[in-house]
Amino acid sequence: MRQEDIWNEDAAQRYDTSDAGMFAPEVLGPTVERLAELAAGGRALEFAIGTGRVGIALAERRGVCVTGIELSGPMIRQLRTKVDEARLPVVRGDMATTRVPGEFSLVYLVFNTISNLQTQDEQVECFRNAARHLTPGGRFVLELGVPDLRKLPPGQDSVVWQHDPEYTGIDTYDVLTQHLVSHHFREGRVDRSRHRYIWPAEMDLMARLAGFTLESRHADWTGTPFAAESASHVSVYRL
Ligand SMILES: C[S@@+](CC[C@H](N)C(=O)[O-])C[C@H]1O[C@@H](n2cnc3c(N)ncnc32)[C@H](O)[C@@H]1O
Repeated sequence: MRQEDIWNEDAAQRYDTSDAGMFAPEVLGPTVERLAELAAGGRALEFAIGTGRVGIALAERRGVCVTGIELSGPMIRQLRTKVDEARLPVVRGDMATTRVPGEFSLVYLVFNTISNLQTQDEQVECFRNAARHLTPGGRFVLELGVPDLRKLPPGQDSVVWQHDPEYTGIDTYDVLTQHLVSHHFREGRVDRSRHRYIWPAEMDLMARLAGFTLESRHADWTGTPFAAESASHVSVYRL
């Protein structure tokens, strides 16, 4: 299934309807604060900006000049119900290849979205595209889950990572191709998304191929140290 088919009209309509999870103030607040600090007074470019969950808050709360790249027309249309083109320009295209005008001190790609690129080559190109947009010394910041492979018993390919009355989340892994499918069961419906998972060490190598070095890695946006059991990481690379 193509990303354009997953992020369709229906997904775009439903995306902004929750105040929980990634939209919770205790998640979004520190995300915006940390990104504003890392932009260091310069312009920011969000790869895969979606409906503007982070980009709009960064522009409105912290006055950062934000531009977005986004593949999905419906997600951009949903963003446009909240902010106009003059305040937050968005270019429709693939974050691995699309060039937008101008230079930036910060490029960021959050909520596991580098894994939406399905091949290693596309993921490396995404790093190179971030580098193309940055001024020397600029930063590329990624938020990404750590693959949950240690939870896979021998011979099995699935992990239930959340199960409650409203929602069940299951990931199925193909360890040969480094692909996983997330299955989201809720309200009598199932949605699926496909990912290519990346270990932090592989990501560091992708960054080096594009001219970056790792500046910091934390377990979240508040600066919790990254450790063996961390489920996710926020990695900051510098050009
Ligand atoms: C999980 S949402 C994240 C949106 C937003 N960054 C956020 O944090 O709320 C993933 C987004 O990535 C977009 N996307 C997927 N592949 C893309 C690509 N190759 N280039 C640009 N956007 C892409 C999807 O259309 C979708 O809007």
